[in-house]
Amino acid sequence: MSLTTCNVHFSQQSNKIVYLSSPLLKQLKLSGKKSVHLKLGNEVITAEIKQLKRQGNHLYLSAGVRQSIRVPKTGNVYVLNSGDNEVQLGPLVGILSDHSGRSVSNPFGAKTGFIKEIIRNGEHKAYLFGFTPGDINWHQQTINGYFLSAQGGWYRKIVPLPDVVYNRLTSRKAETSATINSLRERFVRRKIPFFNWSFFNKADVYKLLDNDPEALEHLPESISGPTADKMKEMLENHQFLYFKPTAGSLGIGIYRLTYHPKRGYFARYRKGSQNVLLRFTNFQSLMRMLQARHGSHLNRYVVQQGIRLIEIDSCPIDFRFHMHKNGKNEWVPAGICAKKAGRGSVTTHVKNGGSLMTPEQALGKTFGSQADTVLEKAKKASIKLSESIERNYPHRLGELGLDIGIDKDGEIWMFEANAKPGRSIYKHPALRAEGRASISYILEHCMYLSRFQGQGGNG
Ligand SMILES: Nc1ncnc2c1ncn2[C@@H]1O[C@H](COP(=O)(O)OP(=O)(O)O)[C@@H](O)[C@H]1O
Ligand SMILES: [Mg+2]
Repeated sequence: MSLTTCNVHFSQQSNKIVYLSSPLLKQLKLSGKKSVHLKLGNEVITAEIKQLKRQGNHLYLSAGVRQSIRVPKTGNVYVLNSGDNEVQLGPLVGILSDHSGRSVSNPFGAKTGFIKEIIRNGEHKAYLFGFTPGDINWHQQTINGYFLSAQGGWYRKIVPLPDVVYNRLTSRKAETSATINSLRERFVRRKIPFFNWSFFNKADVYKLLDNDPEALEHLPESISGPTADKMKEMLENHQFLYFKPTAGSLGIGIYRLTYHPKRGYFARYRKGSQNVLLRFTNFQSLMRMLQARHGSHLNRYVVQQGIRLIEIDSCPIDFRFHMHKNGKNEWVPAGICAKKAGRGSVTTHVKNGGSLMTPEQALGKTFGSQADTVLEKAKKASIKLSESIERNYPHRLGELGLDIGIDKDGEIWMFEANAKPGRSIYKHPALRAEGRASISYILEHCMYLSRFQGQGGNG
């Protein structure tokens, strides 16, 4: 195995000859060879090779070669001798999304900017493109991908099935459809790594970790689809609960429930742009309110022990740990942001009046000189939690957004894990470098998954 980069040129000859500069020929251990299997994504051709007396790493692909192997463009890219006289260009990386909210310049709607950023980051290193489920031709085994020009515009190119797929489909609902299920199965059957598999449900993640002591240590007690009796028992045990829709996000439909033996039951929630606080003298009237608002949807809720979070100005603070797998297949906390809840808000979402801060700002206030120690402990926990989720999950994971709480004793708690984390934390000016690092990890991990790695190196 040997990995290097080379400059790919297109020549106009109609024959099937690949010219390699002498240094490249040597590095790829092809000296003396007459022909080579040239691979791009899942496409392979056999071509004659010839040496070209030129400095540097150059590869010339004739029109004849390009007819059979669809190399999308000229310029720098990785080239790997994958053994057995096989040379692979790439990696060819597909970013899967959809057209929701599209326009001509934004083919992937609100996701367009993010996809552009990933593609730009991989320029001169890999072939990256965006695509939607409708762009795949399973019969031909090709994809009509969206590539980014040097000027920042989009152009279409038909390429083979990629070496790896990064899944950023945006619709929870579509993702559970038969079409998308079969799409995933088809990639997996062809041994094309696909990550992440799909959105998570809260209940599924809690269940996944139910037998994992390392993770359980950080999970508030959680019960999916609780009966009224169970809710009452939990309120008596903890006095403070969160009640959340299992497939929810953005804080929608969440209740903060508290019980004071003398004063009764309290429910706090968001209604439109208002924070509401209701008091009930008995448990039955609290349940009647929840039933009136949600009816049978209540069985798709989870109830969770409430955690007394650290606060600033009496507003609770929690944290987003954006986790990535790197080029060595290890989990790293790529970006960490603290979020302070808006006054009276049940959650810390910015949309609900919350604000972003650096973890140092947030922890300094409560823990003073111990802030660093607490942050280190939280980082270790975030890695352990990611490993536990991965260990117990049947599909491939390369990225996670963990919602982490830290209580007044410095204990670390996980409220939920997101499989398609948003990127709003990187809007904080202090987190720009972390935002770029997060993008780089995506490519690094794609390099790892597509086995574009040198001897002992991490690509
Ligand atoms: N068990 C809990 N204890 C304390 N706060 C919680 C708890 N569960 C959720 N929260 C708060 O509510 C926010 C939203 O909850 P989360 O489970 O992340 O749901 P969503 O999918 O809506 O983001 C969390 O970021 C945290 O601030
Ligand atoms: Mg959340």
